[in-house]
Amino acid sequence: MMAPFSYLSGGVMSKKHFNAISCQYDELRGIHPPLLERLVSEAKITNNSRVLDVGCGTGADLFWLREATRADVMGIDASEKMASIARARLGSHCAMRGNAEVLLTGFRAEFDVVLFKLSLQHFPDPGQVLNPAVSVLKDGGRLAVVTARSNDLKSFPIHGYFPELDRSMAEVADSLHQVLVNTPFRRLRRWQQVEVELMHERCDESLLERVKQRYLSPLRLLSDEELRIGISRIERDLESDQLNGIRSVRGTIYLTQKESA
Ligand SMILES: C[S@@+](CC[C@H](N)C(=O)[O-])C[C@H]1O[C@@H](n2cnc3c(N)ncnc32)[C@H](O)[C@@H]1O
Repeated sequence: MMAPFSYLSGGVMSKKHFNAISCQYDELRGIHPPLLERLVSEAKITNNSRVLDVGCGTGADLFWLREATRADVMGIDASEKMASIARARLGSHCAMRGNAEVLLTGFRAEFDVVLFKLSLQHFPDPGQVLNPAVSVLKDGGRLAVVTARSNDLKSFPIHGYFPELDRSMAEVADSLHQVLVNTPFRRLRRWQQVEVELMHERCDESLLERVKQRYLSPLRLLSDEELRIGISRIERDLESDQLNGIRSVRGTIYLTQKESA
């Protein structure tokens, strides 16, 4: 049995996956301004902040954050294609392609906020990448990890349709929680956990299309047959009107602050 993170990062959910999905990523996932507004207030992002987004994807969140706050932003992403979109969107000096584990060592303690939004679970060793992430924070700087806790997963529209996936997603969520709360990070305050709305999901025919395109990375773990069976369950519930409207998908911001030396 593989450890949950190597399960996510070593195989199908590697760079290859994010390269393949990059062109459709914004359309399939979109941004959710209420979550970003919450990040601004919880992480205290202002026009004086320098913000690093680790695993920034296409840079859509950073673009929104920069427009909303005038903060100085920088993104890092391991997928060449995701990073290229981010560079085109933000400017080449505001996004870098490469593994964060390596790129983080090139920065001084210069950031007011370091953000991992739905990215930390894709690192083979999340505990290990957090140490360099803390060293690039200024004293008093804030570290924010946006993810879903296992209880949050019930709010995902795909929950219940792919039982194999429910188990592995919960296992990853629980492991990440353990890493965050149990690893003794030097100079970090205790984590606060803030419950948030991660996104809105339309539960109509368009959900079927998104699922067929494996819009959430864990869907990549399914065989074509497993995907087909889950899709037929979704179709059945859509027909009988048991899955309809807009669903509010829940998540959690883990937030902490770097203490002075
Ligand atoms: C699910 S996406 C999240 C993207 C964006 N933060 C968002 O919320 O939409 C995860 C991103 O993490 C990136 N990633 C995974 N491992 C990484 C690593 N070792 N270094 C940098 N980025 C990484 C992937 O390429 C991918 O773009």
